[in-house]
Amino acid sequence: MTRVLSCIQPTGEVHLGNLLGALRGWVAGQHTCDAFHGIVDLHALTVTETPGVIGNDTLTLSAMLFAVGLDPDIATVFVQSHVVEHSQLAWVMECTVSYGELSRMTQFKDKSTTREGSFISAGLFTYPALQAADILLYDADHVPVGDDQRQHIEITRDIAIRFNHRFGPTFVIPEAVTPAAGARVMDLQDPTSKMSKSSTSDAGCIYLTDSPALVMKKFKRAVTDSETEVRYDPLAKPGVSNLLDILGAATGRPPAGLADEFTQYGPLKTAAGEAVVELLEPIQLRYAELLDDRGELARLLRIGAGKARTVASATLGRAYGAIGMLPA
Ligand code: TYM
Repeated sequence: MTRVLSCIQPTGEVHLGNLLGALRGWVAGQHTCDAFHGIVDLHALTVTETPGVIGNDTLTLSAMLFAVGLDPDIATVFVQSHVVEHSQLAWVMECTVSYGELSRMTQFKDKSTTREGSFISAGLFTYPALQAADILLYDADHVPVGDDQRQHIEITRDIAIRFNHRFGPTFVIPEAVTPAAGARVMDLQDPTSKMSKSSTSDAGCIYLTDSPALVMKKFKRAVTDSETEVRYDPLAKPGVSNLLDILGAATGRPPAGLADEFTQYGPLKTAAGEAVVELLEPIQLRYAELLDDRGELARLLRIGAGKARTVASATLGRAYGAIGMLPA
């Protein structure tokens, strides 16, 4: 059975890009694959400076993952810091990746530029080594992610290939899997930038907890262009193409084909907004219910961590063994 692993950081609220680019693929995949999904709190430490926030964010994110449709009876949902093998294998990964490779990561360049003048942790630089550990620990064949994570999966493959070459076959070489529509949801106010938790304004970002009225307002104000023709052309018409992409992803139809159904931008904005409202409604209902029982969420995460550790500790042992570390 195909093994799937993918993760999300507990930083800020979950948004439409997370849902369409990644989470919906996770939910679909759990029925046909052996699925592992982590809430990567150690990754969030790269930018965390306020005490007492991350634990709550981790728990509420677990409620959102279950609300979106991950089934704890089928998929293994766990918190990264509950599975200590992630930190242990991360060090091995840091010793298998080069300074030059890490320096070429666009995410590090982007994040360190935005944080210029403030504290830039070494963890932000070595982040891809921890991500490689997340993936390789689970012998993942597929990693369902949005487009922005492709480079991180590529470097994971390079690290795994190098390790296997040095120490003998140990790790499965994973592949990134991205959805046909929604792999790169763009900011509604700045359609040349991806929708992100760290967007400069909330107006361009649809959060999964936004009310229907707020969702419609954000879509109605979406930036398009000064023409009038509805055409799918992400380079020349990023705003309109983003709306078509979102509508396509939400309704399961090809974005380019949808363009013919609209002659004006207004109705396209309304249709995209309504499709998203419909998508979010059941998620919001389940999310509110799940948040009511935090003890149950914590229990489910403990079960997930137990299942994850069984797999992760075996892989770590295999890696240490391949290197020839003296057994404890
Ligand atoms: P994170 O937490 O930023 O995002 C979680 C998932 O959402 C996808 N995504 C998007 N997809 C489409 N359009 C967007 N605008 C958009 N924004 C986010 C991301 O591609 C991701 O799939 N480094 C990862 C977390 C991570 C991970 C891993 C992922 C850590 N270890 C191992 C896969 C496997 C991250 O920061 O994702």
